[in-house]
Amino acid sequence: MMPDQPGTKLLSQIKERYPDIMVIMATATQDMDTAVETIRHGAYDYITKPFNLDVVIQSVKRALEKRRLECDLQEYKQHLEDKVEEQAKQIRETSLGAMRSLSFALEANDRYTAGHSRRVTEFSLAIGRALHLGKEEIENLRWGSMLHDIGKIAVDPCIINKPRKLTREEYTQVMTHTMVGASIVGTVIANKDIIGIIEHHHDRYDGNGLNQNLRGENIPFLARIVSVADAYDAMTSVRPYRSALSRETALAEINNGTGKQFDPTVAKAFVKLAPADLVPQKKTILVVDDEPSIRMLAKSMLSSDYTVIEATNGQEAVEITQREAPSVILMDILMPKKDGLQACHEIKSNPATRSIPIIMLTAIDQELNRKLSAELGADQYIAKPFNPQEMLDVINKLLQEHK
Ligand SMILES: [Fe+2]
Repeated sequence: MMPDQPGTKLLSQIKERYPDIMVIMATATQDMDTAVETIRHGAYDYITKPFNLDVVIQSVKRALEKRRLECDLQEYKQHLEDKVEEQAKQIRETSLGAMRSLSFALEANDRYTAGHSRRVTEFSLAIGRALHLGKEEIENLRWGSMLHDIGKIAVDPCIINKPRKLTREEYTQVMTHTMVGASIVGTVIANKDIIGIIEHHHDRYDGNGLNQNLRGENIPFLARIVSVADAYDAMTSVRPYRSALSRETALAEINNGTGKQFDPTVAKAFVKLAPADLVPQKKTILVVDDEPSIRMLAKSMLSSDYTVIEATNGQEAVEITQREAPSVILMDILMPKKDGLQACHEIKSNPATRSIPIIMLTAIDQELNRKLSAELGADQYIAKPFNPQEMLDVINKLLQEHK
């Protein structure tokens, strides 16, 4: 009992504001009902006056011990929750990572789409940051954009690589990759944002896309971001049936499509970003050799720093050089159809391709070959088996000189 208010009322107020505090009630009353009442209000213990010091000490000790155990339990629970969450994250990232590798491997096999998902991810994340998305949305945007085309695994590669415009039927088949991709990823994770990106990244803002059932703001926002990034990268990349559009033309197309194909907020943010600066374009190296193992070796050596494209004979090399204008050409000498010396001569005789540096490769370090190569305009000559570091140094030096 206290002058202003009963102790039980104060006890209720303390427990309400500071539920973790252990309260021991002290009273002169020997009444059992009062003791029960205080415990009911949250007191830990009840002692009667006059105090027996030993009883007080024992009660305080027990209260402190109980509090310590509660803290330990709380900490253990938190630790367990953190651990479960961390493991769930790891499982999710391992599964998504496996699919990302699959998706990148699919692209790497096709020189027209190599690096597409990587660039779309860079563009999408830049838009997301410009629009101040939260950490979790950015993370989902990263996975969704990396995996957006994974469903193409189920589309006939002959259709994907067709060197002419697709028929309506073929186009319909290609477009199934959105649903297929969403269901592939949906078997591993239940993240609506990531699956929404994959399923809706081809949806048009005005709702006029093929088999589309959402429009405008109803299309998931992250999918509207990937839609712009995807379209820009597709337009600025070479496709089997057309050459790449310039960045200016592609940006003008994005502007024209604002409110029709693209979400206006997203399209405006993207155009403002100067996308040319977002992804440093990898330089392209053309490796020409009829021997698959040499092409594979060169590819594994160079593909972390360069986009590597391949030709299996001199004729192909001349055609690809005219179409793709690689930064450097590595050219074998002895090849079927057209040998390396002839191809070198044609490339160096054409004003459009003459400035592209050519490194001749040969298994036989003959003085004659070396001289002929130099005569025909080749910039360097390397004998096989080549030292990878020597090869990289030569390429980097030539790229510096031909900036
Ligand atoms: Fe796609």
